[in-house]
Amino acid sequence: MFQTVAPESRARRRRVAPPAAADAAGGVVVRPVRRADLEQVIAIDSTVTGLEKRAYWASVYRRYGVAGRGEQKFLVALEGERVVGFVIGEVRDWEFGSPPCGWVFAISVDPQARLAGTGTRLLEAICASFRRAGVKKLRTLLARDNTLILSFFRSQGLMAGPLMTLERDLAS
Ligand SMILES: CC(C)(COP(=O)(O)OP(=O)(O)OC[C@H]1O[C@@H](n2cnc3c(N)ncnc32)[C@H](O)[C@@H]1OP(=O)(O)O)[C@@H](O)C(=O)NCCC(=O)NCCS
Repeated sequence: MFQTVAPESRARRRRVAPPAAADAAGGVVVRPVRRADLEQVIAIDSTVTGLEKRAYWASVYRRYGVAGRGEQKFLVALEGERVVGFVIGEVRDWEFGSPPCGWVFAISVDPQARLAGTGTRLLEAICASFRRAGVKKLRTLLARDNTLILSFFRSQGLMAGPLMTLERDLAS
């Protein structure tokens, strides 16, 4: 689930787009995560969310990062040796009454490497793996006020879907 981050204006992001990152766009490689990438993934997530969650990431790696698990996907984008972004998702079969569907749970790009096509590359890569798994639909869930991630997903062709979230407090 995507958390709230401060949105950047289009004007600002155009001004700050670093030429080096833009030049590197074609050189970004996307591949499955490895154990040795985790420290950099944790660092990117800490920068983006303001929280360092080591135990959480160790658990995500066990569930999504171990090769050969099939339906779980945890991919990283690299500029040379440096991890500049990651995406996590999985194929869910018939949950919420829906036919098998590819869910993206998290996508993050290092703020220094943004606006150079890396997020797009990550999403394309996980979509390709979902297609290979035979699913025809991509879904995600995000906070209403996270306009940055909303703009990104809209740019990738995602629209409001037929599901809605419901919740209640579980006070004891
Ligand atoms: C959303 C995010 C992944 C985009 O990564 P990125 O590498 O900058 O994305 P891209 O360069 O591929 O951008 C693709 C499109 O997204 C949209 N977009 C990206 N950043 C944007 C911004 N700051 N403002 C408005 N639109 C934006 C644009 O339409 C862009 O296409 P354009 O540059 O041709 O206009 C990145 O900004 C990020 O990590 N944000 C924080 C994510 C988050 O909240 N994570 C919480 C934990 S999961």
